[in-house]
Amino acid sequence: MSRKMIVAGNWKMNLSRREAVELASAVAAAGVPAGVEVAVFPTFPWLVPVHEALGDSDVQLGAQDSYIEPAGAFTGEVSPVALAELCSAVLAGHSERRHVIGESDELVGKKVEAIQQAGMTAYLCVGETLEERQAGRAQEVVERQLASGLAGVDAGMLHLLVVAYEPVWAIGTGVAASAEDAQEMCAAVRQWLAARYGEPGGQVRVLYGGSVSPANVEELFACPDVDGGLVGGASLDAGSFGTLVEAAGRLAAV
Ligand code: PGA
Repeated sequence: MSRKMIVAGNWKMNLSRREAVELASAVAAAGVPAGVEVAVFPTFPWLVPVHEALGDSDVQLGAQDSYIEPAGAFTGEVSPVALAELCSAVLAGHSERRHVIGESDELVGKKVEAIQQAGMTAYLCVGETLEERQAGRAQEVVERQLASGLAGVDAGMLHLLVVAYEPVWAIGTGVAASAEDAQEMCAAVRQWLAARYGEPGGQVRVLYGGSVSPANVEELFACPDVDGGLVGGASLDAGSFGTLVEAAGRLAAV
């Protein structure tokens, strides 16, 4: 069974309403090649207008975060059940939430569960810092994040899981991991999933993220264990994002 490639645009805390709608319209108009899934993750307030702009296109809509409870007295948080009315996917444990906002491994695991329980695909983001890589601990850190992130996920929920390997030192720096390093860690993630869940674990899509751009997309996406990318900066421009989607389409057709 071949795994469908994913090109996912994480818009982070960027774009005005008008810019978000324009970008979404351009991504939708560019279309989704056979064998590829395309998703965009706008900031919360633009989920509704972007949902409208995507219309009946095949581009999927995701949110950048979710709370762990479906409803209640949690001022300022956003319910996964509410998100599920608009979105088919949600990021969990993006490095900026772990390292800037201070989310714990345990909280990220609860978010993955809550997102799946609401019927959406959880994109569990994992990745080591530069310090951890230099100390030779990259794989250990990623495996710890997988173990806690998936603590409440059984094999029956794997159809609602994507893992994104995003080394912290590569995010927003313009310095992507080499294809060798990306392949090595994505393969390690896949092995971990297969050891935990058996054959279906090995079929979970594993993305690479961190300074993916039109200049490096071909070599990164060509890696056998890289099933596409979670893209920040290059997803904010319709032209560069379109180049990434086209590259995925060419690789999917091989
Ligand atoms: P970047 O961000 O492509 O700008 O490095 C990736 C991400 O944070 O998902």
